[in-house]
Amino acid sequence: MNMKFIYKCLAYFLVLLTNCYVMAQTELIDPTIEKKVDALLEKMTLEEKIGQMNQYNGSWDVTGPMPEDDYNKERYTQLKNGQVGSMLNVTSVKSVKEAQKLAVDNSRLGIPLVFGYDVIHGYKTMFPIPLGESASWDLSAIESSARVSAIEAAAAGVNWTFAPMVDISRDARWGRVMEGAGEDPYLASLIAAARVKGFQGTDLSADNTIAACAKHFAAYGFAESGKDYNTADLSELTLQNTILPPFKACVDAGVATFMNAFNEIHHIPATASIHLQRNILKGKWDYKGFVVSDWGSIGEMMAHGYAKDLKHAGKLAAIAGSDMDMESRAYVYHLKELVENGDVKEAVIDDAVRRILRVKYLLGLFDDPYKYCDETREKETIYTKEHLAIARDVAKKSIVLLKNENNLLPLKKDQKGIAVIGPLGNDKDTPIGNWRAHGETNSAVSLLEGLQNVLGKDVPFAKGCKIGSDDNKRAFLYELAIEKEDKSGFEEAIELAKKSEIVVIALGEECWQSGEGRSQADIELAGLQQALLEAVYEVNQNMVLVLMNGRPLAIPWAAENVPAIVEAWHLGSEAGNAIADVLFGDYNPTGKLPVSFPRSVGQMPLYYNYKNTGRPTKSPDNMVFWSHYTDESNAPLFPFGFGLSYANFKYSDLNVSSEKVSLSDRIEVSVTVKNSGSVEGVETVQLYIRDLVGSITRPVKQLKAFKKVMLKPGESKKVKFTLTEKDLAFYNLNNEWAAEPGQFKVFVGGNSRDVLETEFEVIED
Ligand code: BGC
Repeated sequence: MNMKFIYKCLAYFLVLLTNCYVMAQTELIDPTIEKKVDALLEKMTLEEKIGQMNQYNGSWDVTGPMPEDDYNKERYTQLKNGQVGSMLNVTSVKSVKEAQKLAVDNSRLGIPLVFGYDVIHGYKTMFPIPLGESASWDLSAIESSARVSAIEAAAAGVNWTFAPMVDISRDARWGRVMEGAGEDPYLASLIAAARVKGFQGTDLSADNTIAACAKHFAAYGFAESGKDYNTADLSELTLQNTILPPFKACVDAGVATFMNAFNEIHHIPATASIHLQRNILKGKWDYKGFVVSDWGSIGEMMAHGYAKDLKHAGKLAAIAGSDMDMESRAYVYHLKELVENGDVKEAVIDDAVRRILRVKYLLGLFDDPYKYCDETREKETIYTKEHLAIARDVAKKSIVLLKNENNLLPLKKDQKGIAVIGPLGNDKDTPIGNWRAHGETNSAVSLLEGLQNVLGKDVPFAKGCKIGSDDNKRAFLYELAIEKEDKSGFEEAIELAKKSEIVVIALGEECWQSGEGRSQADIELAGLQQALLEAVYEVNQNMVLVLMNGRPLAIPWAAENVPAIVEAWHLGSEAGNAIADVLFGDYNPTGKLPVSFPRSVGQMPLYYNYKNTGRPTKSPDNMVFWSHYTDESNAPLFPFGFGLSYANFKYSDLNVSSEKVSLSDRIEVSVTVKNSGSVEGVETVQLYIRDLVGSITRPVKQLKAFKKVMLKPGESKKVKFTLTEKDLAFYNLNNEWAAEPGQFKVFVGGNSRDVLETEFEVIED
């Protein structure tokens, strides 16, 4: 890399970061816009209003000549008649322009369409999957990744992303764990807000910002047994304390839209939940954006056994506050009749349409429906060197060092005899991950290439085995068809390992193994990978395991035996370079797990902020009757918040400003962190609390703050935190957020397990 390019990247990055710091939340209410919305609503017929509530998929030729088949002919006609408010999956300036023109030029009122797309971790420049990015605990990095994604998407005509997904999940079997920020409501809330700010920028009407969408409202990540789309059955208090905080953080950050969820909750499909959409979101939170259904979720209420037909489903969804119908066609077919019969009040329609038009005005689409349609910008802005440099930066910050016995890492650049082994070693597609938007197949820098880029020479490689069948590449037909007996690649891998000094073995999950519809009953290394790992280890124990995966994996054997383990998720376009940055010590790892890693699938659901129960620990006289498994530890393999560095951090002197404070007092907590290692490093210092006795039982630990601190070898720093009443509050049985007087523990450390602890008492004011 030449210096000029490095300076250019730094300058670009600084602009992005400056944006982050001055960034105000998007205000959804602008009096001038409200007047315009009212005036337009006045002019609209009932049919035109309902049209705004209708969203179609566009992965068909909307713009060519009138389609022949009835299905597409109907959509085409509706587009021209103003009966479509939005399209999804129409991308590229050319397609967006043509579809927009069809609506704007032909419909009576010329209302522009809003174009939605799943820009989940990049448009074409791919960033780490959201779970991986969350391991950075670096809000500026996360925000800059969303910012770049928005810049690219907007340049391709897209003005609305269906992201961030802010579903808390405690179950690694659920395939969509990869799309969220993990198991903790506090960390996930900060990340949710950072992503919204990144997508929406400071000004939604700018041509390089796009509307964000908080999804899936709500409890989609609490699917029973981790099976996608399954029932979520949980208490109102868990909903309020654990699941809703990241959604509320999105509202506070000014998110323009929400998406509801496929699952049922409190025995009702979320799409028809008045409690969620009317009472909480639009009621208590006074939210002014609009809610889109999930794909076909209105129609799916028939299968749920909640609606008798599509018309009934449309009625239930509209009344409950699902403002836009994604691909069920319930509104466009039935809503007019429902209003005319008095089953749905026209005020319900007006409210939904007002919200949709508001977002279209905020985006500036009425001023210029083609503002995202500049072909030159599209050519020049997408997949640039600057964006790739940011992707590499975010990727290296997302890597978590899980184990490093005898300081095997970092590798020396003059290290002889490095070999790469394993099915993901030269895989250029898996790091692109699932939900890849326009990320191109096989476009990532592979691990092998990353190492070769550093060493400037070929590195020997042996694949050893496949993960699944080659059919896995057909994303939508994904089944983990393991060819159990095909060990034909083992010999080559073993021979290579024998003659090498050090083996970097790349295992984990193939890119389509996690994501929507990819729940798994088994979360160990799939196929022959475990056998390969053990066979290679037998001949060469000088081994670094690089994991690439979308969900926490159960790898107890590796954790016990392999000396160095690096968690590298699916890191995006620059994956191999970022991993090489860490392996050779050009970047000292800083990542921390945003989810607990299990020992076995039987521990699911697994999370650090669990309840103590009445029988928490084994005591000598009670060997059986306590809350545990008889064949497995309760503890995770790697706890939430865990991640090593090439530096070494020691914690001491944990202090609270006063052992007795009143509710309105600020509580100052300080700790000394020392780098006792021999290289500079950054530690993420984490603060947890425990409310010992509550009006409802409280978790054994809750993350309440964290700070990153950079320390030179031998250096110590005092790290200070301030806790306020808000940090001690929880949602209680009186349906309010409040802190209660009593005894609290405070814990500080580099992860949720290894902490110092002290106590303080809170008394009434
Ligand atoms: C997913 C959503 C996504 C939508 C549109 C659904 O299947 O659940 O998260 O935004 O499809 O692609």
